[in-house]
Amino acid sequence: MLLKMIPEMNKVSVFMRDRRHVETIIKNMQRAGTSTLQVISDFDMTLTRFAHNGVHCPTTHNVLHSSTLISEECKTKMRDLFAHYYPIEINSSMSEEEKIPHMVEWWTQAHDLLIQQRIRKDQLAQAVRNSGAMLREGYKRFFDVLHQNSVPLLIFSAGVGDILEEVIAGHDIFHPNVRVFSNYMDYDEEGVACAFKGEMIHSFNKREGALQNTQQFIHDRTNVLLLGDTPGDLNMADGVQNLHNILRIGFLNDKVDERMKQYISSYDIVLVKDETLDIPNAILNYITARK
Ligand code: TMP
Ligand code: MG
Repeated sequence: MLLKMIPEMNKVSVFMRDRRHVETIIKNMQRAGTSTLQVISDFDMTLTRFAHNGVHCPTTHNVLHSSTLISEECKTKMRDLFAHYYPIEINSSMSEEEKIPHMVEWWTQAHDLLIQQRIRKDQLAQAVRNSGAMLREGYKRFFDVLHQNSVPLLIFSAGVGDILEEVIAGHDIFHPNVRVFSNYMDYDEEGVACAFKGEMIHSFNKREGALQNTQQFIHDRTNVLLLGDTPGDLNMADGVQNLHNILRIGFLNDKVDERMKQYISSYDIVLVKDETLDIPNAILNYITARK
């Protein structure tokens, strides 16, 4: 039945623990209509690609590596940090609690490095435009359909908010229904980045942040489509009151064999090495279709 409803679910990249459950949730969402729907999504490696032609695509922290806004020394140091901490982030034999201190170290050092670079706000847009940042295939349809149907898209990102906004603005998809919660930089009177604002968001404190800042959610939209790529993204919707239906879609980009068990037991739909938004788009197409 699910395949009849949404033939795209036949794609080889799609894995489900319980397809009946997925079918029920999608039908519930379709019946309830788009006025009850909100989409809550991670950004890096969820809305953006993990890789293209075998090469890693940059995360928002790493977008400036192709620019002259940061020094070569800074780039090397940030790459070294990535090489050390990313394997910890995705290590399937460590618990989240064990990982958190390492993530705090990673983000603290990366933010310190970026702030030392005296990045100018007015040069950011151009640098991001020239970078290799790549949204997943089908991004335009995804953002446009949500906009056309007035469905809010809340992006929760542990990346750099200023860069994230430039990426989506640069692709002409920063529509008014999009809200971003991320790590934003503060600028001095000369427009030079001098600090990061507020509490740091890293990969594993999104739930905590969501529960502390429940005002950032839209509480009268009780159906949630959630997109993520790490186990830390699973609970991003925990701050929504009166949740009726939630469908969690997880992109499993890397170390598939090691992590499949964890992903399939927690995400409703797992997309393995799928660099497109075909499945979220197909589900939205079904939900938004006129009855
Ligand atoms: P996300 O919440 O939008 O996915 O952003 C978090 C990702 O950023 C996480 O998977 C690791 C990545 N990251 C870098 O690529 N470079 C860095 O310097 C830091 C601190 C994080
Ligand atoms: Mg991510």
